[in-house]
Amino acid sequence: MKMVFTEVMGYQEMLRTAFPHDELVMFDGPLSEEELVREAKNARVLSVFIRTRIDEEVIDRLPKLAMINTRSVGFDHIAAGYAVGRGIAVTHVPDYGPHVVAEHVFCLLLACARDLIAADRSVRKEKRFDFEPFMGLELKDKVLGVIGTGKIGAEVVRIAQGFGMTVVAFDIVRNEKLARKYGFSYMSLDEVLDLSDFVTIHVPLTPDTENLIDRDALARMKRGSILINTSRGSIVDEHALREALDMGHLAGAGLDVISDESDPAGDPMVGAEGTIITPHIAFYTRESLSRMFDRSIETIRSFTAGKRINEVPREYMGRARVPAAPHD
Ligand code: NAI
Repeated sequence: MKMVFTEVMGYQEMLRTAFPHDELVMFDGPLSEEELVREAKNARVLSVFIRTRIDEEVIDRLPKLAMINTRSVGFDHIAAGYAVGRGIAVTHVPDYGPHVVAEHVFCLLLACARDLIAADRSVRKEKRFDFEPFMGLELKDKVLGVIGTGKIGAEVVRIAQGFGMTVVAFDIVRNEKLARKYGFSYMSLDEVLDLSDFVTIHVPLTPDTENLIDRDALARMKRGSILINTSRGSIVDEHALREALDMGHLAGAGLDVISDESDPAGDPMVGAEGTIITPHIAFYTRESLSRMFDRSIETIRSFTAGKRINEVPREYMGRARVPAAPHD
């Protein structure tokens, strides 16, 4: 069976060992649409990561494709609803370690609350050793608003307990067991924004969550609060966020994601004061990658053996366009 893998991150050997009898075509980086169509011609399985976009046109031009697999949790880079409508299985890796992302949330939050990057720069670049410009914010006894209490949000709640924070949360599906375990309350989005000193986003990017944190939502946030986004850039209206930071309404933003990660120079958040941006590294640890590849291999093997696992949740496909005719 022909299988094409993009963004293999040095895992060629593991893939070859996992699929010794298949025809594997592997690429270190992402592929453009034209490259994908050329290289994945006749492929049955296409396994990618977040920088390989698979849109409706690519799907139309790969008529032999039976399965798309992304090694990520998020699958907003794939026209998943369209592919499923064409009879193609779309799978992801729902849990290679939600704590990895949650740990990065606190890395960003602490770095914002203590102005860590600027403080380091002032010592090492400006050769100053003054504490005065860097009065920080404490986490203990502050309110953390968690938007989305799925796998990553739950890990954030767990870690927040250790800092002595009070958690308030918003999710369309309430996890009452989690709320009881950690003693937090679910509220409406507006209430969470009103009450929180820090807000962290953990919902997937779907038609319903695009611009969920819009101008009005940002205006609701407390003056001097901090927003953390490790989910997807387009969940936040970045122009409105930039304004909220420029006007001093928010004290800071810690972002691991921006709306167009292929063109950061054009993004309104790059260059914004009070902002710390990391290039989508929350998932990326020495330990997480092998789990990610393990789960991905398991998913593909299972599919080729006739059993579908780790299919992307259909309820998140929202208003995805349904194709006119199924594949032959
Ligand atoms: P999950 O599926 O376990 O949890 C998502 C939660 O969002 C669920 O509880 C769901 O009910 C809630 N939700 C969905 N739509 C909603 C809406 N319209 N309003 C309110 N709540 C809604 O997902 P998980 O594993 O927690 O991941 C969350 C997101 O984190 C992923 O979709 C991905 O975009 C992002 N991510 C980012 C990474 C990074 O490296 N920066 C790595 C992994 C994931």
